[in-house]
Amino acid sequence: MAAVMDALNSSSSIVPASTIEATVGAINTSFLGAIAENTSTFGIIVTLLAAAVIYDQLSYWRQKGTLVGPAWKIPFIGPFLESVWPKFEAYHAKWLSAPLSCVSVFHKFVIIASTRDMARQIFNAPAYVKPCVVDVAIKLLRAENWVFLDGKAHVEYRKGLNGLFTRQALAAYLPGQQEVYEEYFEAFHEVSETARKEQSGAGPDKGGAKFVYHLRELTCAVACRTFVGHYMSHAQVKEIADDYYNITAALELVNFPIIIPFTKTWYGKKAADKVLETFASCATKARIRMKQPGAKAECIMDRWIMEMMGSERYRERIARGETVPAEEKPQHVLREFSDFEISMTVFTFLFASQDATSSAASWLLQLTADRPEVLRKVRDEGKNIMGDRYGKYGAITIDDVDKLNYTRAVVKETLRYRPPVIMVPYLVKKDYPVTPTYTAPKGSMLIPSTWLSLHDPEAYPTHGGADEFAPERWTEADAEDKGKNWLVFGTGPHYCLGQQYAVMNLMVRSNNLETENPKAHTNRSRSLCSTSSPQTTTGTTTSLPHPRRSRSSPPSSLWSVQPLLAIPSVIFLLTTHNRTTSSSASPGASQPRPRWQHQKKQLLINFRIFPLFFIAHIKTPNLSGC
Ligand code: HEM
Repeated sequence: MAAVMDALNSSSSIVPASTIEATVGAINTSFLGAIAENTSTFGIIVTLLAAAVIYDQLSYWRQKGTLVGPAWKIPFIGPFLESVWPKFEAYHAKWLSAPLSCVSVFHKFVIIASTRDMARQIFNAPAYVKPCVVDVAIKLLRAENWVFLDGKAHVEYRKGLNGLFTRQALAAYLPGQQEVYEEYFEAFHEVSETARKEQSGAGPDKGGAKFVYHLRELTCAVACRTFVGHYMSHAQVKEIADDYYNITAALELVNFPIIIPFTKTWYGKKAADKVLETFASCATKARIRMKQPGAKAECIMDRWIMEMMGSERYRERIARGETVPAEEKPQHVLREFSDFEISMTVFTFLFASQDATSSAASWLLQLTADRPEVLRKVRDEGKNIMGDRYGKYGAITIDDVDKLNYTRAVVKETLRYRPPVIMVPYLVKKDYPVTPTYTAPKGSMLIPSTWLSLHDPEAYPTHGGADEFAPERWTEADAEDKGKNWLVFGTGPHYCLGQQYAVMNLMVRSNNLETENPKAHTNRSRSLCSTSSPQTTTGTTTSLPHPRRSRSSPPSSLWSVQPLLAIPSVIFLLTTHNRTTSSSASPGASQPRPRWQHQKKQLLINFRIFPLFFIAHIKTPNLSGC
């Protein structure tokens, strides 16, 4: 190589073209040869890797702009591990750091909107953002599902669903819910009694029955009864509740882009297909029943089919040339939906409600169980409003629900104090000037957080401040007027469709839970959550963390980022535990879960493929938008 260069440098005379060509050829060959000689494969890999790290870092800085966020990104993965082992303190610090802050995980740039006003702005910016749905959710729910619609099409579809959640509709679902509560609470009582006997003498927070899993199953059973009534058997409800763990597990933060057999997504898809099939067959049955003379709507499917039949009659009258008076026109004229379309939509309700409601139910039980005075007031209110009907399952009416102000306050305070959904991921559809100085780039993720708004000391200053659990702030102070801060169910075009139902359901649950149910308790006056002393509760009802002692470590379900949503490691623990727990509070079931061993194997496989996540892309479990 040096000789060639010398020859070139020293040549002052005119050199023939052929000589130049030969010389350049010699340089090329020698130069590349020299590189090949001196560079190992390892060197090439290191160089490429370094280039990729630099590119990753530069691209992070470009997207970060003026935003608050880590100055440096951990190469490629960013703070991914933090989301695998989430800590409340870390999230909280992030929210407090600035109204808008950022992180970059793998190739996804994530912007967090933490203050009330910033969060509201994102929720209400449908021109720039749409709910961010993980790819696997599309596979589970099917691409043609309404929940993936955007803009006008979404608004139109939603209007058609509103009729399923009116006051009249909710009243019709009440008896079914109470029926399920009755069945499950009796079984829970047995579980409590057995645990009390077996573990008598165990200290606080030891022994007792872990109700968090039972509550999850109960939530699923109540939801199924509300959605599909009696068209589904007990066994099917139980199966869906069990399988639902697979669906949640499939929706984890980071997942494999394709569904590989025997992985979480594969089991999740199988479970989802089964739910869709079951719901579709329920729709077929509902269609037949609702055509019978005098049939009354008892569940969401009935109601939907009834509304479709009403719309059809209206269309026929119009086709016959009749002038239909305005009051006889259906509020929303529905088109004909197939059984499978109904099934897909009802599945989104289950998808949206299961984790959020389970989280709320767990906190509701824990918070009230730890506060005997709150329970006493709920019970007194029930007695005052319902009189002789109080304590009789199936007795509560929608009018009672309207009057149970303190019970509603307990539910709303639970949702405010420990919101089940703390972050709702949205996807930026086009460059979005969020502030005068910052534009969120297209393709990034914008996540409004609900926590700071719901714990705003200015909005909730009374009764010990925003970090205290105080239902009285809803009855004695002005918490009810702080609508702008009430982001528990989101706001804007995707606000929670089931929010009235969710609150009512939790109220009915509280009312039934606190009752001295004569059917379940014959000897002594006590409830499932009997609270004559705090010790009773730790021994009988739950092993959830005590909120006063572990404020910063809420139960895992709290970490659901969105209804559908949950953070993978947390779900992993939850499911592993559940599958190794033999007790079950479902009526008539007390055996270890039959598919335990197969499921355990599945979890092992998931762990093994974990390192492959590097080539996967970020998935924020979300049904928001669902
Ligand atoms: C305590 C229980 C619940 C909580 C905390 C909750 C919270 C939320 C939140 C935060 C959103 C996103 C809102 C937004 O993007 O602005 C949402 C959406 C949704 N929720 Fe709920 N939810 C609960 C229960 C339910 C129930 C029981 C149902 C169904 C019966 C339901 C159905 C939906 C649906 C369908 C959406 C998507 C709406 C759309 O994209 O248009 N949720 N929910």
